[in-house]
Amino acid sequence: MQEARPSRTALRVALRRAAHQTVDSPLVFRDPLAERILGPHAEELRAPQRTSSRVLRAFLVARSRYAEDTLALGIENGITQYVLLGAGLDTFAYRNPFPNLRIFEVDHPATQAWKLDLLSSSRIAVPPTVTHVPVDFEHQALATRLSQSGFRTDKPAFFAWLGVVPYLTEPAFQSTLHVIASQPPGSGFVMDYAPPPETLSTLERMAFDSLAARVAMVGEPFQLFFTPSDLASRLHTAGFTQIEDLGRDAINQRYFHNRNDDFAIMGSGRLLSAWK
Ligand SMILES: C[S@@+](CC[C@H](N)C(=O)[O-])C[C@H]1O[C@@H](n2cnc3c(N)ncnc32)[C@H](O)[C@@H]1O
Repeated sequence: MQEARPSRTALRVALRRAAHQTVDSPLVFRDPLAERILGPHAEELRAPQRTSSRVLRAFLVARSRYAEDTLALGIENGITQYVLLGAGLDTFAYRNPFPNLRIFEVDHPATQAWKLDLLSSSRIAVPPTVTHVPVDFEHQALATRLSQSGFRTDKPAFFAWLGVVPYLTEPAFQSTLHVIASQPPGSGFVMDYAPPPETLSTLERMAFDSLAARVAMVGEPFQLFFTPSDLASRLHTAGFTQIEDLGRDAINQRYFHNRNDDFAIMGSGRLLSAWK
């Protein structure tokens, strides 16, 4: 992403989570702060919603729901630290129902500074359980920055890595994965990813190309792709034993069945969680 500018894709994702709160029923992902955190950008919600926007919105809300469902499972099993990598305008930290959970929001310095301004102007209180850690994954050492911020490397942690991996270079992906994999047993993470464009069906490829062109236009091109089998083998090698990788049908079955509308995901994006 461009050095001095907050992430445009973070705003677009947040706009769709906010739109979901009023446009879709029943909700897949409930977020009472989704609109408030937008501050002046909430105006952009008044623009008409395009069909492509609706399909993408379904994936984005399923992704956030999956992260929070998986976090809740981790907390039942003793997780006390939650790290949001590339947090964007995610609001979990400000509506967190788990009093013993320490939260670390990691993001590119420009995006994080913008979020802190929005939190303040929207009068959303930052609880003492939340620490903001500005890091550029391409150029700064995540492990060092986390440790300096009070993160415990001797305690299991859960990481959310949503909407970030496709934008990274291979070295930044590897070094960040190494930090996650270095946490003690019981640790886990959730991420989404895109399969290589050349492996997609014609329809999937058209949808992907259109989205890829839009993110490239705002200076945040997709550049990292995995096949499910390649990613699984890399995660096994990194020490993860329990891997769940959900494609379109599995995500629709979990979060969009029994609806009276046709709100569902259609693209090729995948959701994955892994534990060690
Ligand atoms: C599409 S947004 C997703 C935001 C958030 N996870 C969500 O789901 O709403 C991508 C996020 O990745 C962050 N990001 C992208 N490249 C980064 C980098 N090199 N270092 C740190 N953060 C980065 C952006 O600042 C932005 O917050």
